[in-house]
Amino acid sequence: MSVRRLADDQFQPAAFSFNEENAAWAEATIAKYPEGRQQSAVILLLMRAQEQEGWVTRAAIEYVADKLAMPYIRVLEVATFYTQFQLKPVGTRAHVQVCGTTPCMLRGAEDLIRVCKSKIHHDPLERNADGTLSWEEVECQGACVNAPMVMIFKDSYEDLTPTQLEHIIDRFQAGKGSDIKPGPQVDRVYSAPAGGPTTLTEPDVKPAPHMEATPAADVAVPPANAAKPVTTADETNAALKTPADGKTATPGGPEVKPARKSAKPASDEIKEVISETAAADGAGKAPKAPVAAQPSLDDKNRPASVEKPATPDDLKMISGVGPKIEGILNGLGIYTFTQIAGWKKAEREWVDGYLMFAGRIERDDWVKQAKALAKGGEAEYIKVFGKKPR
Ligand code: FES
Repeated sequence: MSVRRLADDQFQPAAFSFNEENAAWAEATIAKYPEGRQQSAVILLLMRAQEQEGWVTRAAIEYVADKLAMPYIRVLEVATFYTQFQLKPVGTRAHVQVCGTTPCMLRGAEDLIRVCKSKIHHDPLERNADGTLSWEEVECQGACVNAPMVMIFKDSYEDLTPTQLEHIIDRFQAGKGSDIKPGPQVDRVYSAPAGGPTTLTEPDVKPAPHMEATPAADVAVPPANAAKPVTTADETNAALKTPADGKTATPGGPEVKPARKSAKPASDEIKEVISETAAADGAGKAPKAPVAAQPSLDDKNRPASVEKPATPDDLKMISGVGPKIEGILNGLGIYTFTQIAGWKKAEREWVDGYLMFAGRIERDDWVKQAKALAKGGEAEYIKVFGKKPR
């Protein structure tokens, strides 16, 4: 990077002040900072001065310093450090900043610089004959994936070829730079692969259960090869990724289907999920997972149900309960934190077995969570658990 100095006196105007609109903006901007920290607005004010004048003049530096009660040297240091500040007049229609850092250099930045030299001026930071264009080489602009690229004022133009840059420069010189859409200049969306997706293109790949509308955390889905039902989304993912043979599951591997919306009772819905999974296992890829028997709805340990209250509790505040499980609980006549807080061990086991949770209710301690929520809502929950309910 070259040494950055203020422009020669011949270019420097005698004075600077913000126009009315910018002066009002500056006052409002400075007021946003705490007392004694107003100097933090220095970059914003310098940038606004540059936008007003086209570059940062010595008078503007002094004006900003006075406004922020800063020594001139401090503002000068900022203006000369950051390359977004132009210290001498640049092209009035375009100042082309060519990224010359490694990724852009490897992808053709030197060819772009050659274009600038031939179409604008041999030297950087020098204007063309009519003062409308200038260029310079700058460090990485953060669009390396779309290298090579240039910045023109606040817009970036990416995935450039020399021919495209010539065209862009011509449009700016003609005062029609707005015709060019900023961003990639090839057929790609932002930094997505050029020419379209290159992965996950198989049409028959199904999303993992936790990606479906029904959250995996909400459905007790036995994994392909496990002896016990899966109890959390993480465990579900782990089971899908790592079958018993130690190999990573492929898109063609056993398919675990999510619960489907149906008019069937909730218990049938759970069984359906499990039987579908077991059927998928039977495709010859893996042994069937044993399915635990669901307790009967007539079992004496089934928790007592209540009529739906006018304002049921949001059971989803309990960690481990999602929309689907809440629906099943409601279907069992369970609507309030107080009900869950009062479950005895046998009742907890009944619900756990009914949901095929394999101990999750105990592990997540629904009762303790429900007690806190019943006693004092979110505030009490935070007091007990040190975090917000989900
Ligand atoms: S290297 Fe050019 S944008 Fe990062």
